[in-house]
Amino acid sequence: MFSRRTSGPREPNPLTRAIAEARARFDLWDLTESNPTRVQLPMDRAAVAAALAKGAEADYVPAPLGADLAREAVADYYSRRGVAVDPARVMLTATTSEAYAYLFRLLADPGEEVVAATPSYPLFGALAEAAEVKLSPHAMLYDGRWRLDPTALAAALSPRTRALLTVGPNNPTGSCLGPVDRRRLVQAALTRGAAVISDEVFLDYLDAPERFAATSFAREAETLTFTLSGLSKVAALPHLKLSWVVVNGPPEQAAEAMDRLEHMADTFLSVGTPVQEALPRLLEQAEETQDFLRGRLWENGDHLRDVARRAGLTVRARDGGWYAVLDLPDGWDDEAFALELVTRAQVVVQPGYLFDLEDRPAVVLSLLPAPEVFQEGVDRLISLALPGPGPKDG
Ligand SMILES: Cc1ncc(COP(=O)(O)O)c(C=O)c1O
Repeated sequence: MFSRRTSGPREPNPLTRAIAEARARFDLWDLTESNPTRVQLPMDRAAVAAALAKGAEADYVPAPLGADLAREAVADYYSRRGVAVDPARVMLTATTSEAYAYLFRLLADPGEEVVAATPSYPLFGALAEAAEVKLSPHAMLYDGRWRLDPTALAAALSPRTRALLTVGPNNPTGSCLGPVDRRRLVQAALTRGAAVISDEVFLDYLDAPERFAATSFAREAETLTFTLSGLSKVAALPHLKLSWVVVNGPPEQAAEAMDRLEHMADTFLSVGTPVQEALPRLLEQAEETQDFLRGRLWENGDHLRDVARRAGLTVRARDGGWYAVLDLPDGWDDEAFALELVTRAQVVVQPGYLFDLEDRPAVVLSLLPAPEVFQEGVDRLISLALPGPGPKDG
C-alpha cells in the first residue's frame, strides 16, 4: 500500500532512547538545544505578536514567489549588510527545507546528483532522498582550520552533478569557505554546468560580523547561485515559518530559474500572509535579538575554549554559527561517550558521527543554551572525559 520512499527505518537509536529515559527521571543539561525559543532569550514576544496581528488584517493576495513588500524586506535586510539584492530575485518559502525541495526539483531529475561537503547538515540525506536525487559527499580536511580537499571534491563530481551545496557558517563546524575554496567551488560548478546552493542561515552569527558581505554568495555573479536563509535563525523565530532564496548569476539563467520556481510555487502557495506582512518589522526587531545572541554565543564559546584548553582538549577553529566541535581524548568512541555522558552526568551532546565527522572522535555542542546551563554541562562533560581515557572503541 505504501511507497518505497517512506519505508526507511524509523526506530530511535540507542542514544535517543537513553536520552528519553534520562529525561523522564532527571533534569538534563542539554548541550544540543538549538531551539531559540527554548533558551531564555530576552525577546519582546508581544512585539512579535503585534506585528503578526497587524499582518493578519491584510487581504489574501496569492503570490507564488511571495508578497512584494516581504521580498523588498529581504532585499533591505541584505542592503543593511552591504549586499545589493534585487527584490525580483527573491523567493519566499515556509522553511529552508522547503527551499531545498524546490531547488532540487528545479535543478535535478530523479537520479541526478547534488554534491555536499562532510561534515555538514544532517538533513541533506533526507532532503535529497525526498527529491529522489543522489547526495554525493566529499570530506573536508581539518589542519587547524577546515578546508576543501580538491581531490575529494573532484571525485564527488560527475556528469550527473546538478548542484554543489555549501553551508556557511557550516553546521556543525562553524566554518566558512575561504577565498581559495570558494573559487574552487564556483569553478567546479562552472565546469560541470551546475548551480551553487549556499545555505547562510547562520551568517549573521559570524565572530567577525563585518565579514557578512564578503562571505555571502548573494553577490555571486559568475554562476547560477541560490542563497538560502530565513527567520528561524536570522530572527530566532523558527515557528513563524518564513525563509527565502536569493537567485544570482548570469541574468538569463537567473530569470529562467525565477520563472520555473514561480510556476512550481503556484501549486503550493505555502507562506502565510500575516508573517509576510509582518516581515519588515520582524527583520528590524531581529537586530536586537542578534546582538544579544552574538554575546551569548561568544560567552559560551569562550568558556568552552577556556576549560578545554586547561584540560588539554581541542575545540576546533570556527568562524561563527551556533555550534562548536570538541575533540575527545584519544581512546573514546563518540557514541559511547555521549551515552555515558547522559547516563552518568545527565548531559546531552551530539556525537560527531551524526554529522559524518569521522576523522577523529568528537562531540558537537550547541552554544545557544543559557550560560549557567552551558557552563555546568561543559564542566560535567570535561570531568567525565578526563582524567583517564574511557572505554576503547568497540
Ligand atoms: C544548515 C541549516 N540550514 C537550515 C536549517 C533550518 O532552517 P529552517 O528552519 O528554515 O528549515 C538549519 C537548522 O538547524 C540548519 O542547521
